[in-house]
Amino acid sequence: MLYTEKVMDHFEHPRNVGEIEHADGVGQVGNPKCGDIMKMYLKIDDGVITDVKFKTFGCGSAIATSSMATELIKGKRVEEALGLTNAAVAEALGGLPAYKMHCSVLAEEAIKAALADYYQKQGLEVPEACKLA
Ligand code: FES
Ligand code: FES
Repeated sequence: MLYTEKVMDHFEHPRNVGEIEHADGVGQVGNPKCGDIMKMYLKIDDGVITDVKFKTFGCGSAIATSSMATELIKGKRVEEALGLTNAAVAEALGGLPAYKMHCSVLAEEAIKAALADYYQKQGLEVPEACKLA
C-alpha cells in the first residue's frame, strides 16, 4: 500500500476544511511544478491559535497534510506553531512516499505564510522562522 491508513483517513475525512471570516492570519502558497494550491486561515487570541481552517486545491497528499497540519497547530501558541516542520506533519501521518514529500512542504509553507500575515497585521516584525525558503 502506497499510502498509510492515516493518510487515507485525512484524505477522505479532512479536518478543519473551510475558511475563517476576519481571520487574523491568511496564507496562500502554491507549488509551481504540480500546480497545487493551499490556503490557510488562522484565528489567534492572545497568541494562541484558537481556530484554523484550510482549503486545498491539490492532490490527496496535499489534502491529508493540510488536514494533519491544522490538527497539529490548533490550540498551540504561535511560537510553537512556527516550529512545525513538514517532516513532523509527514511523520504524524505515518509517512509519505518520497515523491509526495513536497506536498507536506506545501502544508508547512501555508502555515508559515499565514503566521507571517498575522505578525504583519499586528505590526510586529515577522520572525525568521516564518520566512519561506
Ligand atoms: Fe494533481 Fe497529480 S498533481 S493529480
Ligand atoms: Fe503537489 Fe501534492 S502533488 S502538493
